[in-house]
Amino acid sequence: MAQRVLLIIGGGIAAYKSLDLIRRLRERACEVRVVLTRAAQEFVTPLSAGALSNDRVFTDLFDLDDEREIGHIRLSRDADMVIVAPATADLLAKMATGQAGDLATAVLLATDKPVLVAPAMNPRMWDHPATRRNVRQLVSDGVHFIGPKAGEMAERGEAGVGRMAEASDIADAALQLVGGRSEGPGPLAGRHVIVTSGPTHEPIDPVRYIANRSSGKQGHAIAAAAAELGARVTLVSGPVALADPVGVDVIKVETAAQMMEAVRSALPADIAICAAAVADWHVVEAAGQKMKKSNVGAAPTLALAENVDILQTVARRGPRRPGLVIGFAAETENVIEHGQRKRKDKGADWIVANDVSPSSGTFGGDRNTVHLITADGVTSWPPDSKDGVARLLIGQAADWLSHHRIDV
Ligand code: CTP
Repeated sequence: MAQRVLLIIGGGIAAYKSLDLIRRLRERACEVRVVLTRAAQEFVTPLSAGALSNDRVFTDLFDLDDEREIGHIRLSRDADMVIVAPATADLLAKMATGQAGDLATAVLLATDKPVLVAPAMNPRMWDHPATRRNVRQLVSDGVHFIGPKAGEMAERGEAGVGRMAEASDIADAALQLVGGRSEGPGPLAGRHVIVTSGPTHEPIDPVRYIANRSSGKQGHAIAAAAAELGARVTLVSGPVALADPVGVDVIKVETAAQMMEAVRSALPADIAICAAAVADWHVVEAAGQKMKKSNVGAAPTLALAENVDILQTVARRGPRRPGLVIGFAAETENVIEHGQRKRKDKGADWIVANDVSPSSGTFGGDRNTVHLITADGVTSWPPDSKDGVARLLIGQAADWLSHHRIDV
């Protein structure tokens, strides 16, 4: 049956992306009804939103005809879910405090349906303690979030976390939300998922370190996808420039040794997913003080030692082994063969093998092309956004758990 989506478009430069969102939702067989806030009408017109949704567009709480014909209560009850995109800092603040001064906020206060929010704002506004507080409040009220993402902002020279999620990712998340809701609290409710993400930094001295190009986008997307399906998620993250995914416990670490320790203390878990690009080596004796050219003399030689393999350690047989252990294989050639070998060598149940050669644009980029390697064989997935890959992977993991009894 077609899902009925009520889309509230807030006032922000990202509002134009919400026109595309209407299209993406309709492609997925959703019926879309649109509410535009007053500020949104500065960016998109009711005419364009109405042409795409093929329905009339609602703008004003005090339009008597609307109140007689349909009213904000019915507007919210007639939908299967509500999406707020873009959700501005102002709209989030109003939602968090239960205001109902215009049609959009009145609908949000009146609804008893799942609400998915896609924030978009200046990174400093997103980072502001008031916005953090409002988001925490909304999460504890049961509101679902997607994004925002890191990247260039519309304002020149502004970069950071604040970009609205892509329209197709919002549409996928929305459908997953209504799908999950109809079965109850989500297929991963009551499950604990540990995810490692990002690079590690291995110090050379107090100001220098060894690092790699991992952005953490894939690992963070996996943590967010697991939380969306109702799991308790512990995300152990190396240094990244990403927002903490909403509804996830984040433990921030620097080195491989710290990441191992954090994972160990987060166990037991039903699923462990090692998506971090853990440095393979650390400097044997990091200098306590900044190394000075004058003291070191000629170019120094760094003695390196291998880091503990977190994936291999977690996958070791034993009472605390998670039921499903998933690793990644970042490869620049012979992707599947290397992935298959890593699955065996490390004792992982599944390996997600991906091409990270510079030409693939995977490292740092938003898209990923992966092969899922299990004991049963290899499935190559079509290229997808990292959010899409995360949802597919978590969906399959949830499905696997539902068919295998494990006790944590
Ligand atoms: N991994 C880990 N701890 C390490 C190294 C790797 O947990 N010290 C995990 C990664 O999170 C990933 C998998 O092992 O899930 C494979 O990582 P990758 O860097 O592709 O492999 P390496 O072990 O570094 O092997 P190689 O050097 O042969 O590529």
